[in-house]
Amino acid sequence: MFTGKKGMAVLGLLVIASMVLTACGPAPTPEVVEKVVKETVVVKEEVQVEVTKVVEKEVVVTATPPPPAPVAKELTVYHWWTAGGEKQAMDVIFKHFSAANPDIKIVDNPVAGGGGITLKTVMQGMLAAKMPPDTFQSLSGSELKMYVDGAYLEPVDDVWKANNLDTNYPAVINKMVTFNGKKYGIPMNAHRANWLFYNVPLFEELGLEPPTNVDELITVAKTIKAQKPDVSPIALGSRDKWTAIFLFDVVLLSEGGPDVYEKFYTGQLDVATDPTIKAAFEKYKALIPYLYPYHGAKIWSDIPPLLGEGKVGMMVIGDFAAAQLVQAGYVEGKDWEAVGFPQEPEEVFLMIVDTFTRPVGIKHPEANTAWLSNLADPDTQAEFNIIKGSIAIHKDVPDTNYPDDLHQRASAAFKGKRIVPASAHGALAPQNFLSDWQDILTRFLYTGDVDAALDQTSLVMTSYDVAGQSEWYWAK
Ligand code: BGC
Repeated sequence: MFTGKKGMAVLGLLVIASMVLTACGPAPTPEVVEKVVKETVVVKEEVQVEVTKVVEKEVVVTATPPPPAPVAKELTVYHWWTAGGEKQAMDVIFKHFSAANPDIKIVDNPVAGGGGITLKTVMQGMLAAKMPPDTFQSLSGSELKMYVDGAYLEPVDDVWKANNLDTNYPAVINKMVTFNGKKYGIPMNAHRANWLFYNVPLFEELGLEPPTNVDELITVAKTIKAQKPDVSPIALGSRDKWTAIFLFDVVLLSEGGPDVYEKFYTGQLDVATDPTIKAAFEKYKALIPYLYPYHGAKIWSDIPPLLGEGKVGMMVIGDFAAAQLVQAGYVEGKDWEAVGFPQEPEEVFLMIVDTFTRPVGIKHPEANTAWLSNLADPDTQAEFNIIKGSIAIHKDVPDTNYPDDLHQRASAAFKGKRIVPASAHGALAPQNFLSDWQDILTRFLYTGDVDAALDQTSLVMTSYDVAGQSEWYWAK
């Protein structure tokens, strides 16, 4: 196209030449052409362009050039710790980080949604769009593997080695962050998923003992319902669908023990025909009449206050609920208590491990290294875990760190009981399976249709190739 001064001149020449050709026939003289060029609008065009140029020059010459922007020392963090207890615990991490790195500004991006249910979706979008934050929260095990498989994470072996985590962390944690021979996350705590919380005044008034297996759970629930019709015996907040998995998991552990549990969640059982899985669904169904009737309208963090008040009798959830009860002013031993559940046929430590990552292509790699190193620090872990309800995984944090009984018992169980990665919250079962699985279980709480649930479970186990996706767990 013809643009600018030159273009206009050429265009003018062509127009004029064509006018001359048309007007004068096939034999134009050179003098006539030259004369016409000098008198045409081309001159006007040049004047206009010069005016524009002067303005541009004035701007460039007279403006004071801005100083070069300093490279911001920032750390963008994405996480899901927004509930009572969670937020306060995160503030402890920030405090330790800022004390060691006063020049790095933390850009905090909390994404509400217990267990990271919303953050997972947010992260997948950001990572796919190549807009990674400097670090984000995940869970060790299969959830972390999902990001590794997507090639979204850089290894963190440097931080792992610098903090001697092969020695300072238990081997089971090591295994849950190692994929393709490299470490892909720095964890800082272990939550126990299989606690049964209960309201102490209610149990004392009715002379109840905390149940040790699912049959006793049903008996205790029956008693509460009969004696205290206004109290819901068992509560969950299934608007967070994963809470339905927490409840199913303790039923499965009670019916089948940890071997069956691990095999089920890694696709080693034929669900359609396995008698233990069927029995677990039957027992799960038997709990339905004793559930808090509005569970579908509540999320996990709505329930602990109801338990503290005595409006519900029991709840199965991780010890992050203890953090919330404490923050709300409810006292362990007086208002509420929790026991590892089930204790039969074998009491295990069903484990969830909070972890932070180093995404590919981040803007502030040094800040990331400082962040991850802070998480591995025993002092940070000691203070963080008191508030969070979980226990530190660094061996330099002693049991005497914890002022309360629940932590002491969690720590003893972590050292003395078999550790089994929890299915929900990313540790054991593959993520795509989990998403459908929580739908199956939530629906089941309304239908109680065992055969349909078995068929659906069997189908998603096969279609997501849970066995194939879980090979990492069985690899030596
Ligand atoms: C995390 C906990 C968190 C809980 C509820 C779990 O996945 O491990 O740290 O408190 O979800 O948000």
